[in-house]
Amino acid sequence: MEISQILQFWYDRNRRDLPWRRTRDPYLIWLSEIILQQTRVAQGMDYYLKFAERFPNVAALAAASEDEVLKLWQGLGYYSRARNLHTAAIQVMEGECRGQFPTRYSALSRLKGVGPYTAAAIASFSADEPVAVVDGNVYRVLARLFDIPTPIDSTGGQKEFQALATQLLDPQHPGLHNQALMEFGALQCTPLSPHCDTCPLSGKCLALANRTVGERPVKAGKVKVRERRLHYYLFKYKDTLWVHQRGSGDIWQGLWEFPVTEGDEILHPEVPAAFTIRHQLTHQLLICDFRIISLQEPIRTLPSGYIQITWQNWQKKAVAKLISEANRKFSVLF
Ligand code: ADE
Repeated sequence: MEISQILQFWYDRNRRDLPWRRTRDPYLIWLSEIILQQTRVAQGMDYYLKFAERFPNVAALAAASEDEVLKLWQGLGYYSRARNLHTAAIQVMEGECRGQFPTRYSALSRLKGVGPYTAAAIASFSADEPVAVVDGNVYRVLARLFDIPTPIDSTGGQKEFQALATQLLDPQHPGLHNQALMEFGALQCTPLSPHCDTCPLSGKCLALANRTVGERPVKAGKVKVRERRLHYYLFKYKDTLWVHQRGSGDIWQGLWEFPVTEGDEILHPEVPAAFTIRHQLTHQLLICDFRIISLQEPIRTLPSGYIQITWQNWQKKAVAKLISEANRKFSVLF
């Protein structure tokens, strides 16, 4: 049997019943793929159901405010994905698509935040366009099956794996093939302790024969992590506090937070930090201390961009995970 047939047979018997697999609506498939880029299936499910209920179609998502989209995304991290999601919905409503969510790879690729993987996933799942998906699962399965030593994070590697994935594609059932290959990577050919003893491809797996399963796939370089020290301040007056919305230019654009300084610049250094939170991002480790500055009277002139807000209304603002963690600790004060 061909590799794709074995995978599809395996998929038929082992697939998880997931809500986005019950639809061919390209909008819903897109929504699920953007969420699943950010989190695992178990957590992604709640977010998917929440988004699909609040925004059942692309028109509803485009009509929402960015604030509402960010608030619904809260907890997933990487907020530029949520902003791109909203921007792409507006693109579909106002651009050449005329409100019809596209299904073709070329049209999908023009949407904000849709890269080659996502475009291939939507085009093949929703309309059976014969394009191969290559995600982390696919890299792993192919690297093991063909015992490929090329680093997957090199330009040459990406080309090599894309070409191989295209060769393996079943042109009669591209959507099914792609889903099967990804699910196989997620459930059978797992990153740690893959289930080789029950694997239907074990007879064809070169890494298994060469005892290199644990060394595949190869990654070239891990990126350096930068350390940043941030100092946050809860300026508290009665049941209010001072906050601002982050401007453009960074990952937390559009999200709300407390006043903050960085590095050696510390306001009220005489006040000891109430607590410290270490927050790991992809390329940065943030070490953040939080000070409580209790005010006897309100501040008369706030720095521009800042607002005074009640603790209750503050809970409705979209914030990054770091700030919602701090909110939980501060809640005893209000
Ligand atoms: N991860 C990314 N896309 C997925 C899908 N369609 N089903 C399950 N896991 C996924």
